[in-house]
Amino acid sequence: MEREPIGVVGVGWVGLVTAACFAELGHEVWARDIVPEKVESLARGEVPIHEPGLPELVTKNAERLHFTTDMAAVLEQTELLFVCVDTPPTYSGDADLSRVRAVVERLPEDAEHALVMKSTVPSGTGAAIRRDMPGLAYVSCPEFLKEGSAVDDFLNPDRVVIGSDPGDEWAADAVASLYEPLGGEIVRTDVASAEMIKLASNAFLATKISFINEIANVSEEVGADVTEVARGMGLDDRIGGAFLKAGIGYGGSCFPKDVSALKQLAGNSGYHFQLLNSVIEVNELQKRRVIGKLTKHLGSLVGKRIALLGLAFKPHTDDMREASSLVLSARLQGEGAEVVAYDPVATGAASGLLTGTDFATSAEEALDGADGAILVTEWPEFADLDWAAMAEKMRNPVLVDGRNFLDPEAIRAAGFRYEGIGR
Ligand code: UGA
Repeated sequence: MEREPIGVVGVGWVGLVTAACFAELGHEVWARDIVPEKVESLARGEVPIHEPGLPELVTKNAERLHFTTDMAAVLEQTELLFVCVDTPPTYSGDADLSRVRAVVERLPEDAEHALVMKSTVPSGTGAAIRRDMPGLAYVSCPEFLKEGSAVDDFLNPDRVVIGSDPGDEWAADAVASLYEPLGGEIVRTDVASAEMIKLASNAFLATKISFINEIANVSEEVGADVTEVARGMGLDDRIGGAFLKAGIGYGGSCFPKDVSALKQLAGNSGYHFQLLNSVIEVNELQKRRVIGKLTKHLGSLVGKRIALLGLAFKPHTDDMREASSLVLSARLQGEGAEVVAYDPVATGAASGLLTGTDFATSAEEALDGADGAILVTEWPEFADLDWAAMAEKMRNPVLVDGRNFLDPEAIRAAGFRYEGIGR
């Protein structure tokens, strides 16, 4: 069967995963980016981000993946254009739509294509684009991929949300048929609701995390163990166990940005989204509580050497955007500590961001001579460390497990003073 060719505009993390996965499903994919060096390296099969399974898909489907800087070539080959440019937060907290606008403005006025919006945009964006470009069809198809498991999430979706307004059903039907082979539930709705589903989903997940972090903080006061609390809560189908892991706060390129964008979107229309203010504030404070856990054991941090284990905002990625390690490193230095950091893959991305920090090439090296350590990112290799040997290497075997990743009893038995989050 001849498969619909796909256009992808913006070959960042979402765009590249989308392009590679559609190629894997048998489509010719024309992927356009404005950065020539990126296009050239992708055309050579070099994948610039750390995402499990992605390099393999790009290599396997190289013949169907056409990377280019030329928008005209994409328009000529395809009818469906997946827009995957980023929408970073502005100073006001609104989403910056300049890259989305730049894509739309470069389309010829007579373009009869369908824009399929994967970039996260505030409700109302689709309506505005349709007013400006009446010839274009517009479909909202938000992405729900998680970094570190994006390929698997794409190929095995829980649901695929497809929003369209009257007149553009043909385009929404075409998008739906692309996703049908994947088997997830297809949610057909209007554009504004699809846009809101995306923001509301991320904001809800962030709310779950801030909620469990507050339960963790209260658990510390009353002698409960938050991991037990979350286990007991999560078995209720109405609550669900996912995203109830207490820790040192959420980071990444999505939750902080989207929570703020939704709060701002509400505010712009005169509604004060009170709950989200608290979600944001709890997340900010959560990173800083770690300092108190260290001083409890070490007293003043002036001149103390503190090791950060893990830097990325979560494991299996080198993404440092809004990573808790950024705040922690700066706060520790603010307290007069020396910071040494190790991450299995994010050191390169982190080196320009974590000023004043020493970088180690292994966890052992980071812990050698340290007065305290914070497990920031739950990389699997940290579970396999010989913790008894690590306790010997450290000047003061104090460990704050910022992700409740390790077994407290085992770590204590290895000779550590162990502090988790809410247990
Ligand atoms: C998130 C959403 O999960 C995706 O569905 C969405 O598509 C994506 O944002 C996006 O909008 O592009 P992602 O940012 O890749 O995905 O990462 P998550 O796995 O959701 O984790 C976000 C942060 O929350 C991490 O810092 C993680 O450590 C933290 N987290 C997660 C917790 O602190 N506790 C949990 O229980 C779960």
